[in-house]
Amino acid sequence: MLKTATHNTLDETLYVRDKLFIDGEWVSPSDGSLEVSIDPATGQPWAKVAFGGPQDIDKAVAAAKAALNGPWGQMTAMERGVLLRRLADIYQENAGRLAGLESRDSGRAIRESRVDVGFHHQWYRWYASVAETLHGRTIPLDSSVHAFTTQIPVGVVGAITPWNVPLMAAAWKLAPALAAGCTIVLKPAEQTSVTSLELAQLFQDAGFPPGVVNVVPGRGEVAGAALVAHADVSKISFTGEGQTAKTILGAGRDNMKRFSFELGGKAPHIIFADADLEPAMNAATNSAWTLCGQSCALGSRVLVERSIYDEVVEKFVERAARVRVGIPSDPAVHMGPQAHAAQLAKTLSYIDIGLEEGARLVSGGTRLTDGVLADGYFVAPTVFADVSPNMRIAREEIFGPVVALIPFDNEEEAIAIANDSDYGLAAGLWTSDISRAHRVSSRLEAGIVWVNTYRFLRWSTPYGGVKSSGWGRENGLEAIQQYLETKTTVFGTTGQFPDAYKIEEV
Ligand code: NAI
Ligand code: MG
Repeated sequence: MLKTATHNTLDETLYVRDKLFIDGEWVSPSDGSLEVSIDPATGQPWAKVAFGGPQDIDKAVAAAKAALNGPWGQMTAMERGVLLRRLADIYQENAGRLAGLESRDSGRAIRESRVDVGFHHQWYRWYASVAETLHGRTIPLDSSVHAFTTQIPVGVVGAITPWNVPLMAAAWKLAPALAAGCTIVLKPAEQTSVTSLELAQLFQDAGFPPGVVNVVPGRGEVAGAALVAHADVSKISFTGEGQTAKTILGAGRDNMKRFSFELGGKAPHIIFADADLEPAMNAATNSAWTLCGQSCALGSRVLVERSIYDEVVEKFVERAARVRVGIPSDPAVHMGPQAHAAQLAKTLSYIDIGLEEGARLVSGGTRLTDGVLADGYFVAPTVFADVSPNMRIAREEIFGPVVALIPFDNEEEAIAIANDSDYGLAAGLWTSDISRAHRVSSRLEAGIVWVNTYRFLRWSTPYGGVKSSGWGRENGLEAIQQYLETKTTVFGTTGQFPDAYKIEEV
């Protein structure tokens, strides 16, 4: 999928991001390489990107540690807030350009990228404000002591992000971590590194001190593994696959690192017969195909009450036919390609699995190769009906535009099917019965439940999983706590301390 390349063999027309961002400077990889990034809409190289190796990670971590002990570590939350808000302003000015690059690198339709990237500056602003209002507690005791807590940054943070939404994932990690006073080494995914290097440029332009934010793309098993194993990294914040998280847990245990993990899901999206069907269909289809199915929160299992099941299947088929699949830079296009060749192969293999398992394919199910799509990684919006809850396509994360429709007969059964999953990231339900909405939402095993809406995500709404979907929360007030430690300080006020070993007359 990624070919190793050198400067002189690469087409001069490629977009160039051939330097790493370490200690406030743009440097060539010391023991890494230059790689090409593939445009998933054409299958052709479109950019040339620097990948770091272990030595580069060492330098980045050393810079991050020095920054923590340098001027950054001395700054107040308000001083950090000035920088974060300046970054947010620059981000906002650059959002259109960043959206274009992210769309090109990841294949996300530009109409979606523009909306997504247009929001990110809010994370940096909001966490600046949150940090400014954080404070410790005084602990009432007797008058011989004065005890209080302060909240201190956890230290150097290794942020490891996935290829589906690189800039969003970076905002979710960097904004709270920096607001908390941590310093960062960001290791984006090998398939879509370009925009994380662009982000580094924005931090440089905003005037962050050297070493506060370092960006080192590279292979997971090389640069990622070096970051996880590094003794001076205090915390890893990771988004990706559960299996990778287990490897990271093992490799990062030596210095008792802190971890937060966002590991995807198989979200149930429940439509009761009493739901207002039009908005429910809008949400259910959008959360099947947005991002070409490559988001952890999508409602990839749609549970439908039997009395409206046939109608919902029919509406899914109708709407699948309306999805304009095409070159992502075209603003008329709804859905671009899968982000890379391995994901295309994974999705197609799950479509085969669904067919073998006996699910009823009612729409899509194929790679699209007509005309300009010929060499891209396009898949038709795909709908499987009559999926039973024990099928692999109902249990495993596919990460493609493939939705499983599952009928149910009553509320109890809907809840049982929804919760019968290793994952527990998100869930959604549609009903016009308010009592049912409360009853069901309270019993769904998920970190976030949407009622009569879906995939509403903001800086201030905590997001993360129960069960195998991960540890910790991103966004909201919870996220900043993941980058802070509580420190307790106790002062003696009497100027006295008893001698425990005094020989007393008995
Ligand atoms: P992955 O977990 O391998 O990659 C995510 C990040 O981890 C990348 O930056 C990668 O370079 C890094 N990484 C990989 N191995 C590492 C290691 N040993 N040490 C440190 N860092 C390492 O995920 P992958 O293979 O790209 O995707 C596989 C599946 O995972 C997808 O099909 C999807 O089902 C799921 N996934 C879920 C995501 C989510 O949003 N929760 C995001 C991406 C993938
Ligand atoms: Mg992997």
